[in-house]
Formats: sequence, structure tokens, C-alpha cells
Amino acid sequence: MRILVVGGGGREHAICWALKKSPKVRELYCAPGNGGIAAVAECVPIAVNQFEELAQFAVDHTIDLLVIGPDDPLSEGIVDVLEARGLAVFGPRQNAAIIEASKVFTKELFKKYNIPTAAYESFDAYEPARAYLDQLKPPYVIKADGLAAGKGVIIAQSIEEAEKALYDIMVVKVFGDSGNQVVIEEFLTGQEMSILSFVDGEVVRPMVPAQDHKAVFDGDQGPNTGGMGTYTPLPHIPQSIIDEAIETIIKPTAKAMVAEGRPFRGVLFAGLMITADGPKTIEFNARFGDPETQVVLPRLKTDLLDIFLATVNGRLDQMDIQWSEEAAVCVILASPGYPASYPKGLPIEGLDDAGDALVFHAGTVLKDGGYVTSGGRVLGITGLGADIAEARAKAYAAADRIRFEGKHYRTDIAKKALM
Ligand code: AMP
Ligand code: GLY
Repeated sequence: MRILVVGGGGREHAICWALKKSPKVRELYCAPGNGGIAAVAECVPIAVNQFEELAQFAVDHTIDLLVIGPDDPLSEGIVDVLEARGLAVFGPRQNAAIIEASKVFTKELFKKYNIPTAAYESFDAYEPARAYLDQLKPPYVIKADGLAAGKGVIIAQSIEEAEKALYDIMVVKVFGDSGNQVVIEEFLTGQEMSILSFVDGEVVRPMVPAQDHKAVFDGDQGPNTGGMGTYTPLPHIPQSIIDEAIETIIKPTAKAMVAEGRPFRGVLFAGLMITADGPKTIEFNARFGDPETQVVLPRLKTDLLDIFLATVNGRLDQMDIQWSEEAAVCVILASPGYPASYPKGLPIEGLDDAGDALVFHAGTVLKDGGYVTSGGRVLGITGLGADIAEARAKAYAAADRIRFEGKHYRTDIAKKALM
């Protein structure tokens, strides 16, 4: 089969890496891909927002299946455009991708269907939102309604910081139209857990759970990023809690989307907080997580292409999906300055010394035969092992050997699982 993966980050590298193992894959393309993806797929220089060009490429190359990685094209309706051209696509249509694209929509869905989440209010103007802060106590949780590259959530420790965040989002519009509305919600405490599921309407097939580290510095300090590292499994979280989250949050949400006339097909990503009152929803995403994918897919024993095909062909309920018992830990190597502005074009060395760790490229390009940095998150290094300690040691050993100027990474990824 001929497959085209759309996207160019670490998540798409992991998807391409997993698809490449399928004996059914004859041609694998990735648009636009990146320096590292070029080693497993043929990179096609079409951007993720060039829907017509992607459709034409797929028609010209008789592509059997497209797989959409990132949130932006999904929320802009890429799947609808491609399906209108008669193409088979793994990913939700625009009316279902809204579950990630609008936090206000999703909070209202939770309210209507009684799905556990943080208490909240939504606002479409600065002044009433600011006034509402006076009724609350810190920490304040302020969320831009729309997409903001993982940076649209601000946890403010003081009223001054909260007001500034609101002002930046709603008046200065640092996230553009994504800040036309905001959600202000209750601060939840507990362990975080991400559960990604293959979903087709009401059929939900959860993957193994993972935990991300969103803050840029050790000890969860500093601003939020797209994610600085992940691990799976979560040995400190009982299976009964994982099952409770699936039964009380994920399956009811898939069902609610069907009831709303917005059936979801693709990967539904639940970001959860395990509170003293049980699991509650922080957010839903309409796609694989980045860098969750870099730890979850290495544990998948079943052919990923078979799962994608079963999902788009209405046979997901019949799939036998198997996972390995191994642990996986992914450490992100980021550019100096990320998540704020950062330089590009820094030469990367030591990539051949990664041992048996998997190196997923997020922001690299090939230049004069070597790799240079081209994004905020540059590489995701995944170690695999019999347990978290072994997987973690492998990931960090490789992360230390790979070098570029100003490289920074968290040194405490998966530490919570060891305590
Ligand atoms: P999100 O972009 O929605 O994943 O949020 C980014 C991060 O902010 C999450 O991973 C949590 O660590 C934190 N967060 C979001 N909402 C809440 C909340 N209601 N209470 C506590 N932390 C939150
Ligand atoms: N790692 C969080 C996300 O993909 O949204």
C-alpha cells in the first residue's frame, strides 16, 4: 500500500517509524517530514495547510491512506477536503476535531453529558473575565479557547499574573483569534495521565497510558511547552483508576460526540488529572500526542497500518491490539530559549552514539550531509527497558551523548514513577 503521513514533527517520525515495520507498506511518504523522517519515508515538500496540493499529490500517487498528525490542519478541515476527493483518511473530520479546537465547546459538552472535569466559566470579553478572577483564589487556570501550540494554558500564582495573562490573551491577542474566548477553571491537583485511544464513533480502543511533562524546567517549573518528555507505563497508577477514566470519561465522550452528530474517527487523546475525587478531564485532543506517541507506539506489537485500516473501514471493534510489557521513556532535547524564541541551524553531533535508544527527530533538517536544528523541540530520545529505571537510563545515556549548542532538557522525566 501507499501511505502519506501529513506532518513533520517527532510524533510523525514515530508514526512513520511504526508504519515502516508493516509488511503491507510499499511506499511511505511524509509531507513535509523533516531531516530524520527522511531516513524512513520519502519527504514531500508540501506544507500541512496546503490541502489542495496534498490532495493532488495523493491522487497522482494513488495513495491508499493518508494519516494526519497535527491539530491545526484537522481543525481547519483537512479530512473533509481529502475525503471529498475520494481519498481514505485516518483522522477526525472538522466537526469532530472541534473537541480540541474549542475548549468552550468541549467544556459545554462535558456539562451536558455529565463528564467529570474541572468547574469553569467561559468569557468572550476581557472585563467580565477579569472581574470573575476576584471571586477566585490562586492558583488561577486560564485557557485560550482555541489552538496555541500547547502554550494556551496559563497557571497563574497571583492575581497580577492572572490579569496579565487574561490581558495578553484577550486584548493583546498573543494567540490571535484563539483568544477570542477564554475558559477560567478550577485548579485540580493530582497525578496527570494521558490516555490515547483509537476511536471510531462509539468504538473506543485505549492505548497504554502515558505521562507528559509540560513545564520546561525540572520540578515542573517555568512556562508550559508542547511537552518535554513522556513515559509509559505508569506503575504508580492502579489499573482500576485507568479503567475508571476509560469508563467514566473516554467512552462517554466518544458516545456524546456521536449523539451530537459529530462522530469521532481517529486518535482521541484524553488529558486527565487523577484527583482525590477520581479522574477528571483537563483536555481532549483530536490526534496523537507529541511526545506521547514516541513512547506509546514503541510498545505497540500489532501492525499500526492494520489498526488505521480497521478504523477507517468500520472494523475497529474486531481488532486484537497487543502491547508489549516493556517500559519506554522519552526525553526531549530542546533549543536554547524554547518555548520562547530560539536560534535555528545549530549543528547536531553524536547522533550515531545513541546506542539502542530510538531517536525521533522533531525539528531538524539535513544540511551538507549533517543534521542541524530547525525547531524548538529538536529530538525525542526514547529508551526502552524491562522497567522505567532501565528505559530511563538508556534514554538519558543517549541524550547526554547527543550535542548541539545550548541544548537543554529536563533531567527528571519519569522520576515520579521511581518514587
Ligand atoms: P493543556 O494544554 O490543556 O494540556 O494544559 C497544560 C497543562 O496545564 C496540563 O498538562 C496541566 O499540567 C495544567 N492544567 C491544565 N488545566 C489544569 C487544571 N484545571 N488544574 C491544574 N492544572 C491544569
Ligand atoms: N504532549 C501533549 C500534546 O500532544 O498535546
